[in-house]
Amino acid sequence: MFISFEGIDGSGKSTQATLLADFLRGRGHDVVLTREPGGSSGAEEIRALVLNGDANRWSAETEILLFTAARRDHLERCILPALDVGKIVICDRFADSTRMYQGLSRGDLRGQVDALHEIMIGLEPDLTLLVDMDPAQGLHRATTRGQEDSRFEGFGVDLQSKMRAGFLALAQEFKHRFMTVDGSGSPDEVAARIQSVVADRMT
Ligand code: ADP
Ligand code: TYD
Repeated sequence: MFISFEGIDGSGKSTQATLLADFLRGRGHDVVLTREPGGSSGAEEIRALVLNGDANRWSAETEILLFTAARRDHLERCILPALDVGKIVICDRFADSTRMYQGLSRGDLRGQVDALHEIMIGLEPDLTLLVDMDPAQGLHRATTRGQEDSRFEGFGVDLQSKMRAGFLALAQEFKHRFMTVDGSGSPDEVAARIQSVVADRMT
């Protein structure tokens, strides 16, 4: 089973991906917890390129290529080998993030994102957990967490709002695999919502 987490910056995806991995391991599953951009050594190098520096360092089109290149390496070296031996893969962001951030944030490039995805990736998660969160609260959490790779977070609350609306629309477009979870409340409260969704899907 391939599970992805999606949502705006600071919505709690990384926290919840870790808690879900712990929960499933506790139930005896073999779980690989990974993230994008990154998750393999080559993809982590691309992550550093794409997330550091000036906001205008790369055009949206170049970013589509960089994120997809990172994803392809991650897929070949981490995700597919794990799925092949029956492990559960939990990925903190996947292709839906490219559909949103590169496909929507600076003009409509969704067609290019989808075309490259089909040619080079061709895999969608079995379940995508959208952690839904108020944009200002998410931005506050993301900017007070003190990480270095802040190229996207510099884009501000307008982008956060646009991405939130975009993710909710994507959840409607791919109803069969998306589950939207309320990201408000304590980490344990959100985790309980997620566990009930995942337990439902696995039975
Ligand atoms: P994301 O991966 O979506 O950017 P994180 O899991 O990194 O989000 O969370 C962003 C920040 O908010 C972190 O400092 C984290 O400790 C904190 N955080 C995560 N979940 C909650 C929550 N439910 N309530 C309050 N703070 C949270
Ligand atoms: P991430 O480390 O998940 O940030 P956060 O924890 O703040 O959500 O992702 C870093 C940034 O990369 C985030 O702002 C979203 C962006 N991103 C894209 O623009 N396209 C992509 O395909 C992916 C996977 C991430």
